[in-house]
Amino acid sequence: MPQYSRITGTGSYLPPRRVTNQQLVEQLAQRGVETSDQWIVERTGIQARHFADDGVFSSDLAVHAARQALEAANCQAGDIDLIIVATSTPDMVFPSTASIVQHKLGIAGCPAFDVQAVCTGFIYALTVADSMIRSGAASKALVIGSEIFSRILDFNDRTTCVLFGDGAGAVVLEASNEPGILACDLHADGSHREILHVPGHVSGGEISGNPLLQMDGQAVFKLAVGLLEKTATAALEKAGMQKEDIDWLVPHQANIRIMLSTARKLRLSPEKVIQTVHDHGNTSAASIPLALDVGVRNGQIQRGQKLLLEGVGGGFTWGSVLLQY
Ligand code: ACO
Repeated sequence: MPQYSRITGTGSYLPPRRVTNQQLVEQLAQRGVETSDQWIVERTGIQARHFADDGVFSSDLAVHAARQALEAANCQAGDIDLIIVATSTPDMVFPSTASIVQHKLGIAGCPAFDVQAVCTGFIYALTVADSMIRSGAASKALVIGSEIFSRILDFNDRTTCVLFGDGAGAVVLEASNEPGILACDLHADGSHREILHVPGHVSGGEISGNPLLQMDGQAVFKLAVGLLEKTATAALEKAGMQKEDIDWLVPHQANIRIMLSTARKLRLSPEKVIQTVHDHGNTSAASIPLALDVGVRNGQIQRGQKLLLEGVGGGFTWGSVLLQY
């Protein structure tokens, strides 16, 4: 059995339509919804986000990111024996977005399934893939986070619609005897499910309940800060490591204030935090692999360094993965 699973390639994709705060402010004004670039930047750090065009689905973004990750790992789609897609905005009720991605990559046969843990989805998916690789059930996995949150936003609700964007990030995770993933820590508490949810569902051919995102931002903020510190500490303990051992924090990109507050608690300077929220907004399950790929491609993240990936999301869910890149 391999001792570890290890990331051998990363990739990402943003839909080309980039919408700046000012452009969004003008679009919302036409609906009578008032906001400003200054409010969005000061409260969240977001300056722009990318929105997918009609007819483009999460599987399309995922395939672009997956192809980049495969190229970076120097392997072919046919080498892959497991596909996991983390998404809360699947192409359809079923089949899974992972099955659709598999077909679009031109392969068949390997297990493919979705993981739904909202913004913690990629952390969940990476943990599942790591377990399957270390147990011998798979040897080369594609782990993807892909979202089109613009489809579930209420553009009459200024407290949420300015926060989110679309995109995808992917990694190839391979069996290895060299260190890769060192520790994983996952949690959920359904008693907080109503502070961040999309309550609608399909029933009898109709949508029943509100199919758009609703969030109590302050409640999420308060919970997030404490839980992120706890899961970071738990992952470090499991790996027998100290805060000082972390080279890079790769956090879920929801809000710059949450990200920097977590960094402070880990005694990491802001320069040690991969930051993409300004240009991506919150891309939910895609945000961590997107940030990871940006950090790798711009040369910040180097082989052998220790990374802490962590996130919180609807459910409420939270968790972290500590790894040697
Ligand atoms: N433009 C202008 N004013 C606004 C806007 C807006 N877009 N949105 C809210 N306001 C106003 C409010 O109405 C309020 O006005 P009032 O004081 O007159 O009542 C004022 O701004 C302050 O509102 P707050 O909600 O207190 O603002 P806060 O500083 O808490 O910031 C925010 C809101 C950005 C949503 C913050 O709470 C946050 O980031 N929460 C966490 C979100 C998060 O991390 N989500 C992660 C998980 S996402 C997932 O799993 C899918």
